[in-house]
Amino acid sequence: MGSGASSPFKADLLSDTLTRPSGAMREAMARADVGDDVFGEDPTLRALEERVAGLLGHEAGLFTPSGSMANQLGVRLHVKPGEELIGDSLAHVVRAELGAAAVLSGISSRTWVSERGRFRAGDAAFLMITGVGPYQVCTSLVVVENTHNFGGGTVQSLDEIRRARRVTRERGVAMHLDGARLFNASVAAGVPVSDYGREFDTVSICLSKGLGAPVGSVLVGSADAMAESRVWRKRFGGGMRQAGILAAAGLFALEHNVERLADDHARARRAAEAIAEAAPGAVDLATVETNIVILDVAAAGWTSAAFVDAALAGGVRTYAVGPGAVRLVWHLDVDDAGTDVAIDVLTALVRSGPAA
Ligand SMILES: Cc1ncc(COP(=O)(O)O)c(C=O)c1O
Repeated sequence: MGSGASSPFKADLLSDTLTRPSGAMREAMARADVGDDVFGEDPTLRALEERVAGLLGHEAGLFTPSGSMANQLGVRLHVKPGEELIGDSLAHVVRAELGAAAVLSGISSRTWVSERGRFRAGDAAFLMITGVGPYQVCTSLVVVENTHNFGGGTVQSLDEIRRARRVTRERGVAMHLDGARLFNASVAAGVPVSDYGREFDTVSICLSKGLGAPVGSVLVGSADAMAESRVWRKRFGGGMRQAGILAAAGLFALEHNVERLADDHARARRAAEAIAEAAPGAVDLATVETNIVILDVAAAGWTSAAFVDAALAGGVRTYAVGPGAVRLVWHLDVDDAGTDVAIDVLTALVRSGPAA
């Protein structure tokens, strides 16, 4: 059975959030045993929360409608109003959640600048402020993103994370992992998600990115922390009723769509290699670690806006992430044939440059 309405594009590389649930996933959703989760009575949701918590080496889980809500519940848990979180300047939590930590929780954020989102314990240790009483804002949380989205799918080093964990433990600072694409990191690095997960007080993962479910994220942490987050989830308007229908898609995704992330990574690399061969300056192959490729279209004479339009005219949808940079994202709904089309269209554009 297919995945519903077909895409109007020959290859849609805009985002890995675009995937439509497969026929088999829809069947699993239709069969789900459900109850009212605000009363804690949805068995499929319970099963998903327990499964994700177990996978990540934590006591308990909490299903949320979005990755942003899972992150903001994690932030809220560790940081009091008037305190701060610190993270990478390109982190989703600070750059793409529309100021939620400030607006919803009265929390300020400070950031370090990194190379492509690569996490270094030293950056966090340098920025962290603790033990200065009433004189400066107190750092309560370090946020790490793995893989790093705006960094271009960067996989974080477990050693650096462990180094940061030692410092934060000494200084009484919590750590939250934005693991929207943690399974991509795990598959690429050959590191079990639990190895990453155990180093953090809380972890959010997204089911609706590379894993191919239509909706949902899970926050994990201690049982007490998740009980508190359940209250805040309701306050934020995220208490759901028969959400087991969504959880069934998540369970299906965890069962069927994790190992195949390696296919997305291989297709991204194949396309990057072809583009690099056509125009060596257009992509740095060392930066292609998972399912995301960042093109330096300026090196081929393009503005990103003109490049995106030209690619679209060839049936390939891409995303401008800067004046001269374009992002390509591989996912469940871009197969080998779609990758071939993308390679044909994009290599022709980087070779020719814009029309005079
Ligand atoms: C790294 C990262 N974290 C969190 C999110 C938020 O997920 P959602 O769109 O479900 O709120 C995203 C979304 O793209 C993301 O890329």
